Amino acid sequence: AAVGKGNFRHFMEKELHEHPAVLGDTLQQYLDPATRAVALPPLPFDPATVPRLTMSACGSAFLAAQVGRYWIEQLARIPVDADVASELRYREPPLAEGGGAILVSQSGETADTMAALRLLQQGGQKVLSVVNVPESSMARESDGALLTVAGPEIGVASTKAFTAQLALLACLAIGFGRARGTLDEATARLLASTLTEVPGHAALILEKDAEIRAMAAEVAKARDVLFLGRGALMPIAMEGALKLKELSYIHAEGYPAGEMKHGPIALIDTAVPVIALCPSGPLFEKTASNLQEAAARGGRIMAFTDAVGAKALRGFAERVIELPTVHPFAAPILHAIPVQVLAYHVAVLKGTDVDQPRNLAKSVTVE
Ligand code: G6P
Repeated sequence: AAVGKGNFRHFMEKELHEHPAVLGDTLQQYLDPATRAVALPPLPFDPATVPRLTMSACGSAFLAAQVGRYWIEQLARIPVDADVASELRYREPPLAEGGGAILVSQSGETADTMAALRLLQQGGQKVLSVVNVPESSMARESDGALLTVAGPEIGVASTKAFTAQLALLACLAIGFGRARGTLDEATARLLASTLTEVPGHAALILEKDAEIRAMAAEVAKARDVLFLGRGALMPIAMEGALKLKELSYIHAEGYPAGEMKHGPIALIDTAVPVIALCPSGPLFEKTASNLQEAAARGGRIMAFTDAVGAKALRGFAERVIELPTVHPFAAPILHAIPVQVLAYHVAVLKGTDVDQPRNLAKSVTVE
């Protein structure tokens, strides 16, 4: 059946508004809200004993995989290698005997990810794919598939499918941690209840639309934009930059906050917005001090943070957008939403083709 735009101007706008529902539907597959327990179906590898995991994907799906890698390593203590599919397939990576792999894809048809799937299987790895299209090639050819429940995504730049991938990977990390015994039951329940609050928080973030649009008016004037984040927020900074590039054709870079001083700091002047994703938590102080360095060089600091973080940043930041205060585990999922909304508004202001940016394709089936 054809999917319509409803009352929205663009498919992307409609799809952004589907975040709460899609997150809820995806979480519900793997997480029982009543018992706050994660229940995973049988997987192609045993998370309790798998010696190593390889994660791979392309585009935004790869950035979701990178967040997944941080979570899985942290909670389940499984060593994870993560690389874009077009590199992984030619890199001749040494694969562990009895190893597992997780591939992430909205369409399940991306050529490089499919090639990585075959390479991994030939290398004896058991491949689990995280896909949004159940009847896709990847779902069929993998040794097992878990589905995101994002529904059809029409906008070329991924939005709701990306956050659904994160939600699913978060459940996997908790499930793996339990299977491996690295995560105790009480902590697992705490993290699971943090996830059950994510759809509600996503709805609150969508209400910040006017604030984000005001930020977009500034960002739309820039030639270069730098996005910074640390830890599991680092791939989200890269997603923010990717979305802005794809949709508005403004040059943007996503960087690990601590690495700024080794390069991007040279770009900073009074015209460069530095957009930070920095919720309060164990990594906050470090990122805040990176931002102060950028501010000292005239950089225009704009931050997505929470109430506690906002207090510390307001002194030197030009704009601070307060997101709901959540456990650091859920922060990457929630911070993904406003950077997508920001890119959307910048694109609308610049008059670019939001749903069908130039030169891009929804599903890249050529190598
Ligand atoms: C294209 C899309 C991206 C997407 C990437 C991977 O570049 O524009 O939004 O993240 O392909 O697609 P997949 O279907 O494998 O997730």
